[in-house]
Amino acid sequence: MQSWEQPTAVKHGIGCLENLGEELMRLGVRKPLVVTDQGVKAAGLLDRVQAILDEKGIDRAVFDRVKGNPPVELVGEGSQAYLDYGCDGLVALGGGSSMDTAKAIGVEVANGGCILEYEYGHKPIEKRIPPLVTIPTTAGTGSEVTLWAVITDPKRRIKFNVGGTPLIAPHVALIDPVLSATLPPNLTAWTGLDALSHAIECYTMTYAQPITDAVALLAIEYIGKYLRRAFACGKDMEARYKMAMAATLAGMAYGVDSAGAVHAMAQTFGGYIDVHHGYLTAVMLPVVMEYNWMGNPEKFARIAWAMGENVAGLRVEEAAKVAVRTVADLVNDLEVPPLSSTGVTEKDIPILAKMAFDDPQTVGNPRDLDLAAYEKMYRRLLAA
Ligand SMILES: [Fe+2]
Repeated sequence: MQSWEQPTAVKHGIGCLENLGEELMRLGVRKPLVVTDQGVKAAGLLDRVQAILDEKGIDRAVFDRVKGNPPVELVGEGSQAYLDYGCDGLVALGGGSSMDTAKAIGVEVANGGCILEYEYGHKPIEKRIPPLVTIPTTAGTGSEVTLWAVITDPKRRIKFNVGGTPLIAPHVALIDPVLSATLPPNLTAWTGLDALSHAIECYTMTYAQPITDAVALLAIEYIGKYLRRAFACGKDMEARYKMAMAATLAGMAYGVDSAGAVHAMAQTFGGYIDVHHGYLTAVMLPVVMEYNWMGNPEKFARIAWAMGENVAGLRVEEAAKVAVRTVADLVNDLEVPPLSSTGVTEKDIPILAKMAFDDPQTVGNPRDLDLAAYEKMYRRLLAA
């Protein structure tokens, strides 16, 4: 039996951030902990949230120390702040790192103990997290609607997943594309390609289901049409809105299921070396697609169609290869640097390949994988 569950109310539209106060009051939150990072603060977005809360007379505490690939210790500090300030809800303002940190804080304060104990497959989450409103400032992660938080364990140099249950899902996702208007082009590209990776991986994985297929396909269509525009002109609000919706749709596909080799590689790599998750998925996606298309040519052919390519009359295998070239073109247009820019070299390949192979997301990949396949893909990436 397969299932799909979406416990998060998705509220979206240009300027909808103004409704934050009402949403918190509706959830019965009197003093939220606002979880965010220094980049969001520097962009002035935290000030806007504070002003909106002031207008409604809502008290709050701010935890603004989130960083990329958030570590276990940071979650503990956030939970302590939540308890010290007597908070009764959470607002996550930022990208995947802030939203995942807020979810993990919610797990700790509701269930006790350390987030490490709740690594998927270990101790189950038994209690619903406190009311959480997610406010994404990028269009990529989809964490605003997923049932997962990804946390880094620096001691083991791995990232681990927490969740897989509606108990960790945000209560409300407030998606205002205006917040992404100041996102720099490289982060627009990387986060947008992370969303594309979620959509393509969930659409083609071995246990995809009709509901995730439907949302993933529209996400692919929107990204094919609007990501270059958002990259080229940050204030193009139509492009920003469609990218925000694409990220959420892709999150709905990714949020209840797994992914494939792109995320098996990107997540393990991000635990090994502190590199932006979206960048890793962006650089890895074309090489993984080149390997994977033969596992499900029909679906890869439909990806080409969704991305606007005219594949009518082509043999299905040819159309599938068009999808691979189309995504490679997009990654190239968006000026994604090669993997060698991270400093990894050939000598790192055996350990990186082994970590990816051991990642649970390997299981859903549309083409069978072994260590040699991962090593081959890593060699391709480093030769680029
Ligand atoms: Fe991702």
